[in-house]
Amino acid sequence: MTGSNVSAWKEKFWSRPEEDPPWQLKTVHPKLEQEIGSLEAELRGGDKARKVYFVPCCGKSLDLKFLADRVKGDDVVIGCEGTEGAIRQFFKEQQLDFNVSEQSDNVLIFETPDKKLKIFCCDLFTLTPEILGTKVNRVWDRGSFVAFHDPETRKEYVGVIRGLLDEEFNYLLHTATAPGDLGDIDTPNSELGPTRIGSKEVESAFENFCQIRLLAHQENASLYDRLPDSLYRINVFMLTAKKSSDDRIKFWQVSCTNEL
Ligand SMILES: C[S@@+](CC[C@H](N)C(=O)[O-])C[C@H]1O[C@@H](n2cnc3c(N)ncnc32)[C@H](O)[C@@H]1O
Repeated sequence: MTGSNVSAWKEKFWSRPEEDPPWQLKTVHPKLEQEIGSLEAELRGGDKARKVYFVPCCGKSLDLKFLADRVKGDDVVIGCEGTEGAIRQFFKEQQLDFNVSEQSDNVLIFETPDKKLKIFCCDLFTLTPEILGTKVNRVWDRGSFVAFHDPETRKEYVGVIRGLLDEEFNYLLHTATAPGDLGDIDTPNSELGPTRIGSKEVESAFENFCQIRLLAHQENASLYDRLPDSLYRINVFMLTAKKSSDDRIKFWQVSCTNEL
């Protein structure tokens, strides 16, 4: 496995609880608020299963609570974060009660008493639907795909996420790219900041199983408060299940039959 770097993140960003990590927003992510309708939208063929939201590498993002406050019935929000301290900070700061259980030596589960929000404390690269107890069909990926600099690690990441996805899904992916070469402005001396990911990179990573749509983009955007403004282009993609060729044949058969 190439992906596991949880201890490096813990040491660099989560060892001082009095100081938020640089990517931390004090509000719900504006692009999630803006695109929530697309994320929640009914899946092709209707929502046969409950909505299972997944927030990979969730840190202590306020987006978890935003989503959990919206879910209905037995829908659920699942986060995954490698650093236990980050998860504990999340529950403390959001003043949420939680129960914690040990699924195995390497997996702790933090869960609200109403069971609408579960955060798995483990290495994302080890996750399987068996560990989660479900497949997922809604994904909000901000600062997760882009957190992995090495292209081989991102390939492995996509393989893990693909294994968690249900047949139909809405996957909202937030990436940033920058004009020209900004050097290491965002991550001095570190390999742990966001990778700048353009559309081509998203296509090559996801196109063999996803339809990819650019939902929104923003030029001259800032990534984090502490960075100079006006440097980034933010892209928000919607990834949905690619129709298999069998599906396409069925579609044409049905269309042709209807036309006769
Ligand atoms: C850039 S932050 C993004 C956090 C969150 N998505 C947000 O928008 O605020 C990436 C997070 O991924 C966590 N992380 C990094 N590698 C991980 C791994 N292999 N498994 C689980 N979490 C990981 C880090 O501890 C960090 O909290």
